[in-house]
Amino acid sequence: MPQPLRLGIAGLGTVGIGTVKIIQRHAGLIAARTGREIAISAVSARSRTKNRDADLSAYGWEDDPVALATRKDVDVFVELMGGSGGPALAATKAAIAAGKDVVTANKAMLAHHGQSLAAAAEEKGHVIRFEAAVAGGIPVVKALTEGLAGNAISRVMGVMNGTCNYILTRMESAGLPYAEVFEEARQLGYLEADPNLDVGGIDAGHKLSLLAAIAFGTRVAFDAVELEGIGRISIDDIRRAGDMGYRIKLLGVAQMTGRGLEQRMSPCLVPADSPLGQLQGGTNMVVLEGDSVGQIVLRGPGAGEGPTASAVMADVIEIARGCRISTFGQPAATLADPVAAKATAPAPYYLRMELSDKPGALAKVATVLGEEGISIDRMRQYGHADTSAPVLIVTHKATRDAIDHALKRLPATGVLVDEAVAIRIETV
Ligand code: NAP
Ligand code: HSE
Repeated sequence: MPQPLRLGIAGLGTVGIGTVKIIQRHAGLIAARTGREIAISAVSARSRTKNRDADLSAYGWEDDPVALATRKDVDVFVELMGGSGGPALAATKAAIAAGKDVVTANKAMLAHHGQSLAAAAEEKGHVIRFEAAVAGGIPVVKALTEGLAGNAISRVMGVMNGTCNYILTRMESAGLPYAEVFEEARQLGYLEADPNLDVGGIDAGHKLSLLAAIAFGTRVAFDAVELEGIGRISIDDIRRAGDMGYRIKLLGVAQMTGRGLEQRMSPCLVPADSPLGQLQGGTNMVVLEGDSVGQIVLRGPGAGEGPTASAVMADVIEIARGCRISTFGQPAATLADPVAAKATAPAPYYLRMELSDKPGALAKVATVLGEEGISIDRMRQYGHADTSAPVLIVTHKATRDAIDHALKRLPATGVLVDEAVAIRIETV
């Protein structure tokens, strides 16, 4: 049997310990599949004395992840600390400089530094693999780089943040307001240390930018992702959207159009009976569309110890088998500079507004929409309160610009009781 593949694991939290446990539990199975043993040479975390629910006594210890990354007895540096910069970036750079392969679950680091890290690794003939960084246990990076490598990809779309999907589906099922469910998610430990990474759409935006790079052969362009979080979604939006046959999802969409690369992570309406509409709780779903294969739907756990460690191990095993796939599926030096689409493709929109219950109110709204070139597809007016009435409108395809202009003009009609809400309806 060839020499064992020797790992240095930095980060012994949820994902790190999950990875150690798989290596310990499945040593025989992994060796049989790779023809090679996977050994842990040493580990690193902030605290050496913390009780970690795994026996680490057989491994070396480094206080400094950079020292771990450059150890002679480490072939693959496994970065599971997190953070876009700081020790994760320093140690990853050190590992590459020292000629190691790298496996990481760190979407934030790759969204900001993936291009330069990949180029540096590839210059030295080494690889960076990141299956765990996108949609946890779902093997979507491998699906794109390997399974669908013969396809021109037209669209990548999905729910890639379990916490947001938990919040939105829980608001609907329990009839609770956003703030209450947000607090519940915090108590359950679902939220990142900085919750805005989740609810602001940033974490999911990081993931989308990585998939877009693979799908379209472009440099990672996280800064070009149009981001909007779920903080403004009310229980009313969820209920009213449901009445019109839709569910609200924090949906990521990346597509290459005639106008350039479009990357959006924002609340969208999807048909309630579609696979995305049916997605409950913390589960993730990624939809991939290729010219030969058509549409592929991948669904599974997007986070947690077992699922994320499972994805880390897929990368480790890939390296142990001798596969040397470029970080983004093609050499980093050949990735094109993406031209960011200046405007998103037109789509139907859902508009919710509360109108004064007086003659001509609806006509004033319809006039503004008409003048902005927005055509109404469906409309519903609810039984009104004392002086106002909720109105829902589903438009035909319109540009975001036209919708924004209309939203700006509507208050001047004097018939709006509250700010109007507009949410894009995605064709899925
Ligand atoms: P975590 O539970 O917070 O664990 C982080 C680990 O890194 C801890 O063991 C911590 O040490 C260690 N660490 C932090 N700073 C360090 C430093 N300066 N030097 C050495 N060690 C340091 O995080 P996690 O949830 O496992 O996430 C790890 C990575 O996986 C992140 O990039 C995250 O985005 C990604 N990820 C996580 C999930 C998930 O479900 N958790 C899913 C997908 C991707 P101490 O334990 O001593 O504090
Ligand atoms: N905060 C992330 C989520 C963790 O909720 O999906 C997995 O990346």
